[in-house]
Amino acid sequence: MIEVMERGDFMPAKVVIGAQWGDEGKAKIIDILSEEANVVVRSQGGNNAGHTVSVNGEVYKFHLVPSGILYPGTICVVGNGVVVDPKGILEEIDMLVSRGISVSNLKIDLRAHVVMPYHKALDGIKEKYRGKKDIGTTKKGIGPCYMDKAERSGIRIGDFLYPEIFKEKVRENVKIKNAIISKVYESDEVFNAEEIIKEYMEYGERLKPFLTDTTAIIYEAIKEGKEVLFEGAQGTLLDIDLGTYPYVTSSHPITGGVCVGAGIGPTMIDECIGVMKGYVTRVGKGPFPTELFDEDGDRIREVGKEYGTTTGRPRRCGWFDAVIGRFAVRTSGLTAIALNKIDVLSNIPVIKICTAYKKGNEIIKEFPAHLEDLKQCEPVYEELEGWGDISHIRRYEDFPEAVKKYIKRIEELCGAKVTMVGVGPSREQNINI
Ligand code: GDP
Ligand code: IMO
Ligand code: MG
Repeated sequence: MIEVMERGDFMPAKVVIGAQWGDEGKAKIIDILSEEANVVVRSQGGNNAGHTVSVNGEVYKFHLVPSGILYPGTICVVGNGVVVDPKGILEEIDMLVSRGISVSNLKIDLRAHVVMPYHKALDGIKEKYRGKKDIGTTKKGIGPCYMDKAERSGIRIGDFLYPEIFKEKVRENVKIKNAIISKVYESDEVFNAEEIIKEYMEYGERLKPFLTDTTAIIYEAIKEGKEVLFEGAQGTLLDIDLGTYPYVTSSHPITGGVCVGAGIGPTMIDECIGVMKGYVTRVGKGPFPTELFDEDGDRIREVGKEYGTTTGRPRRCGWFDAVIGRFAVRTSGLTAIALNKIDVLSNIPVIKICTAYKKGNEIIKEFPAHLEDLKQCEPVYEELEGWGDISHIRRYEDFPEAVKKYIKRIEELCGAKVTMVGVGPSREQNINI
């Protein structure tokens, strides 16, 4: 007999997502909330993500392992919707172990797809082929891996438990990929199936202890009243459906993606926290209405250390865009905003917020669905008074009035409460409101 569940019988989970184009400081928020969490789950993306956590002067960079791993006892799940690069995750595991962090609570879902060497090669080849129309991907093989998943020819990590099936799938895939690489793209970057099998079977052997059906673990935890936290990767505008297509990633970073990517029902989520920065950044190509090409932009990049965690690329920087903020609140049903990095704006005399777009003579308040419309949008700005250094502040009451006004204006324009404010990268530099 299993227990019949009704609403109110379980403890709904919290979801943390990126509400802009990624790199909003999600990992810092996850790290802070993980103190209370029993389970932390990644449900989409792969090692295209770069999540930084600063604790007691130590900096940890995560790509696949959930940022909750720094708390001993917290179960960390790589869910079914994630694409796993075995070499990448093993490097991360080795890094953590060498720094004294236990990975005994790491679980990887058997259904997660495996990023293979030909995915990485095809990512690069396709980008080169696109020429000026390249997306600016991380070249981690994410798109090609999700392509195989959707096309139903992908290799799942659980296939490591059935070596004959794994080998057969590798041989079939390599045959087709080599033909595409050499005949369609006329590249000589072809692969040897037997070499891949040898290398990857070794990775599989090391990963076996972590493999399980994580959907059951998550469900049981929620049922038992434990705190479950979902760690988003990428951001709303990189969502394959709702983002700035085709300049997006190949998964669903919005809150809706969590259900499919972790195998839970929507009734099991109630809090949805969207992480924003006090400005906007973007890595890779694609339209960006508030992008700055002047000293303010350079200053934000330098003070905010806006260089990619995964690729080291300089991030494009621009003013806070409330059209994007509203869009994220609406498409993810955000119940709260975590507003990071407002310390980076310190000592800028006048701070701008984009409240709407102007397209010709038309004022646009909703984020355009078509890229061609977005490309024609000019930001409409509101100017706010700036503030001095705030990185030492630890209580909301101690903020200068200008900061309080700025936070209030972001709430009004985006339509959700700001419940956390970041004034620096460390755990302590977070202010709960
Ligand atoms: P994520 O991908 O959303 O987890 O974000 P990243 O880790 O890629 O980038 C955010 C960067 O900003 C990291 O280097 C963080 O340590 C840093 N950071 C996070 N919050 C704050 C903050 O409030 N102020 C400052 N100055 N840095 C922050
Ligand atoms: P986190 O989790 C910022 C961007 C890439 C590129 C596009 C597609 O750290 O916020 P992909 O390799 O996914 O096919 O690249 O998406 N991108 C990110 N930008 N933060 C990320 O992750 C990103 N993950 C992918 O730069 O524009
Ligand atoms: Mg990042």
